[in-house]
Amino acid sequence: MFHKDPLINDPQTNYNLFLENIEGYITSSLPLVANLANFSALVAYFFDHVNWAGFYLMHQDRLVLGPFQGLPACTEIAIGKGVCGTSALLRKTVVVPKTAEFPGHIVCDDASLSEIVVPIIKDGVLIGVLDVDSPLENRFGSLEQEYLERAVKILIDNIATL
Ligand code: SME
Repeated sequence: MFHKDPLINDPQTNYNLFLENIEGYITSSLPLVANLANFSALVAYFFDHVNWAGFYLMHQDRLVLGPFQGLPACTEIAIGKGVCGTSALLRKTVVVPKTAEFPGHIVCDDASLSEIVVPIIKDGVLIGVLDVDSPLENRFGSLEQEYLERAVKILIDNIATL
C-alpha cells in the first residue's frame, strides 16, 4: 500500500497514488467482489470529503448494492432512476454538482450534496456502476472524473470472466 504523505495535501498527488494502488491491488486472479471491496476502500482513503464510495451491480434488470464504504444504502435501483440508474441507462459518467437539483436523485445518506457515477462496461456488457458521494457541493470536477474513469478502466481490464 502506498500511503498519503500527511504533509502533502495536493489532490492530484493523492489521485496519482490512488491509481498506483489500484494498479497494485486490482487483479484478474481475484473474484470481482474482492477487487470491488479494495477499490471502494482506496477511493475512500485517497479522496477527501467523500462520505460514500461503492458499487451497484447489475442483477437481472436492476442495479443491486455491492461492496462500499459509508453508511448503509438503498439496495436496489431501477435502470433510469436516480443518478446511478441514469448513468447505467446512458452508459456515461454522470457528475451531479448539487444533488438537490438532480431530478429523481435517490437520497440514501442526506449528507450527500454532490455525486459522481461512472458506468462499468466490459465488452459492451453493463456490469454496474461506481458511485461516489460528497458532503460538499461541487466536489467532483474534470480531474476527479478523469482519475475515477482511469481506475474503472483498470478494474474492467481485470474482470476475469463475465
Ligand atoms: N444517490 C444515488 C443512490 C445511491 S446512494 O447515493 C449510495 C442515486 O441517486 O442513484
